[in-house]
Amino acid sequence: MDVWEAIRERRSIRRFKPDPIPDEVLTRVLEAATLAPSGKNSQPWRFVVVKEDKRAEMIAVLHEGIAACAVQGLPPGSSKHTAAIMEQAPVTVFVFNTAEKNLFRERRVDEVLWNVACVQSIGAAIQNLSLAALAEGVGSLWICDVYYAYEELRGWLGEPYHLVAAMSLGYPDEAPPARPRKPLAAVTRVVK
Ligand SMILES: Cc1cc2nc3c(=O)[nH]c(=O)nc-3n(C[C@H](O)[C@H](O)[C@H](O)COP(=O)(O)O)c2cc1C
Repeated sequence: MDVWEAIRERRSIRRFKPDPIPDEVLTRVLEAATLAPSGKNSQPWRFVVVKEDKRAEMIAVLHEGIAACAVQGLPPGSSKHTAAIMEQAPVTVFVFNTAEKNLFRERRVDEVLWNVACVQSIGAAIQNLSLAALAEGVGSLWICDVYYAYEELRGWLGEPYHLVAAMSLGYPDEAPPARPRKPLAAVTRVVK
């Protein structure tokens, strides 16, 4: 699969077959993530993998967080739907930013810059991960609804770092059409 095909054919997958992902496939996909560029080559990513044996616990923790948000009056948004998708996926990869332990602290401008650079680097790693997964026949879903259980998941996973996102991975049980994109002209401007 060439890079153009991968970019064009990638989709967010929200239905997975129960088949497990072989360890060697998962390793290749994670290695692809580590080939991403990063600010000062700092490689601030950390990948924490949850497989089926721990999936039910993970989902329970996610629902704890969603319930705690509800108590604070925060509507659940798409979090319950996303939790149901994560419950089907044989693998979830949580992606942490090892350069940041407290996302919500006040920062100086240089610290803002570094945080933004690290999160961008991690975004590139996640995109590599999703394209490599596709090349291996594995579907993926990039997930930020884990923020509904941000502290709960960090605690359960035993990670002190900033949780940037999670990825559901599994063999696709759907072939969704391409979702629409804004025309290039609507998102581009040439300075004159
Ligand atoms: C940063 C980010 C966070 C996302 N979070 C979620 C999520 O929590 N739940 C979900 O179902 N999809 C999530 N998505 C998937 C988007 O909804 C999806 O990428 C978008 O609708 C375009 O569809 P496509 O990926 O098939 O092109 C996320 C995507 C990105 C890039």
